[in-house]
Amino acid sequence: MTSTTSTTPATLVVLPADVQDLLFKEAHTAHTYTDEPVTDAQIAAVHELVKNGPTSLNSQPLRGVLVRSDEARARLVAHMAPGNQAKTLKAPLVVVLAADLHFHETLHRVAPHVPDARNLFTDEQVRHDAAVLNAALQIAYFIVGVRAAGLAVGPMSGFDARAVTDEFFPGGRHRALVVANIGRPGPDAFRPRAPRLAFDEVFTSV
Ligand SMILES: Cc1cc2nc3c(=O)[nH]c(=O)nc-3n(C[C@H](O)[C@H](O)[C@H](O)COP(=O)(O)O)c2cc1C
Repeated sequence: MTSTTSTTPATLVVLPADVQDLLFKEAHTAHTYTDEPVTDAQIAAVHELVKNGPTSLNSQPLRGVLVRSDEARARLVAHMAPGNQAKTLKAPLVVVLAADLHFHETLHRVAPHVPDARNLFTDEQVRHDAAVLNAALQIAYFIVGVRAAGLAVGPMSGFDARAVTDEFFPGGRHRALVVANIGRPGPDAFRPRAPRLAFDEVFTSV
């Protein structure tokens, strides 16, 4: 599929067409990867690119673990759904992305403009919901950032979230949300594009 199939009038999007393709239109979820390593510097560059993505009260609850050792990789793969195991074993880099359920402890630093921000999150359920919502937003920014670095990403929620949380974020203050495989796409990396909902199925006007 090429961007010429889009019904969006090109003049209404200010990004150059090749950048639109790289980030969105031609970007696909990857399921295989080459052996080319992904460095910490590349992931740091992605973070630098997307770190200004908005979160409520600038809370930034996303936390990530770069799974580098074979031993840690094996522990992670054991908790992946069967259909996700082989690609998680082979990807050049795997990142476990989680929400910090105690993000309110850093609000004094990241939201100094709201002096009592921490007190808005004393209710555990409210805090949990805010952590998951905002971390999920940050995961979306991260996915786009990985694509901007010329890499492909395969986000996955098919894993035992409780077990992965306990393995990679011990201490009870996080919740693992997504495991992301990252690298250059390998042979047959992409599946056919599945249909997307149309604008008027998604949006109404009132
Ligand atoms: C939060 C999330 C969880 C996903 N979980 C899985 C998964 O467990 N296994 C898998 O193979 N793909 C998973 N995917 C990939 C989606 O199926 C894929 O991104 C979607 O179908 C769009 O595919 P496309 O980018 O090729 O158009 C997940 C994607 C997201 C964003």
